[in-house]
Amino acid sequence: MKIIRKTDELENILHSLKDSRKSIGLVLTMGNIHNGHLSLIKKAQTDNDFVIATIFINPTQFNNKKDYNSYPQTFENDVEKLKSLNCDLLYLPEVTDIYPKGLIREKSITKYRDILCDKFRPGHFDGVTTVVDTFFNIIKPNNSYFGEKDFQQVKYINELVKIKNHKINVISCLSVRDNLGMSLSSRNSKLNKDQLEIFKNLAKKISKLIVIIKQRNTKIKLENFKKDLSKININKIDYFEIRDEDNLSVTDDYSHSRLFIALYIDEIRIIDNFKLY
Ligand code: PAF
Repeated sequence: MKIIRKTDELENILHSLKDSRKSIGLVLTMGNIHNGHLSLIKKAQTDNDFVIATIFINPTQFNNKKDYNSYPQTFENDVEKLKSLNCDLLYLPEVTDIYPKGLIREKSITKYRDILCDKFRPGHFDGVTTVVDTFFNIIKPNNSYFGEKDFQQVKYINELVKIKNHKINVISCLSVRDNLGMSLSSRNSKLNKDQLEIFKNLAKKISKLIVIIKQRNTKIKLENFKKDLSKININKIDYFEIRDEDNLSVTDDYSHSRLFIALYIDEIRIIDNFKLY
């Protein structure tokens, strides 16, 4: 696996790939690579001639400096994992390569605003779409792969591709889940032993709730369920809502919807979503 830090070096490689008409698959990450990322790499490898992964902890998508500074960094492990899959190239830019004009974030998307993570992390998606747009402009992949754990993020990226006219297929991939049914996430690696116990209790409660919802014969009172979470020491909930998969509007028609959650175990933010059909 080639490890490239300089954008002009990357551009040379990209030129020769384009000259030889090789298709490029892109997997953008902020590191702390887990099996969810690896499944995106594998999918990219089946679809493309050449696969590029990036590790870049994007400062403009964090709502506070503390969260940015404490984002898990496991560079050596990440490289080993990517090498073990024979990923072709890892691009590791510096903040100044991606933001030569300073940490500016562009507000380019108007859809899916003021709901879910956009409501609780104002500006977060502007940071995401700004950095993804920059990577798309540099790499111009044929296909780019994103995990469904960040369902709203995938919606924003699809909008970005439309608005900016990128000739890139955005491939949304199923979450890889742990044995309790929760999506793998880099942030979960920060859970200590007690927090992990809370996480497991949460997972059990959610999987029971999903079974009940899928049976369709009980009127679900999510407000009561949310109140109950304090009994397992979950006291801060950003959202716990059922929304339509397409337009993300709140609905009580479960035939085309997901349960979307974002909540905190102490200071660690857990987000996930669960198909209800
Ligand atoms: O999903 C992520 O890890 C990030 O939001 C992304 C897409 C790599 C942009 O920084």
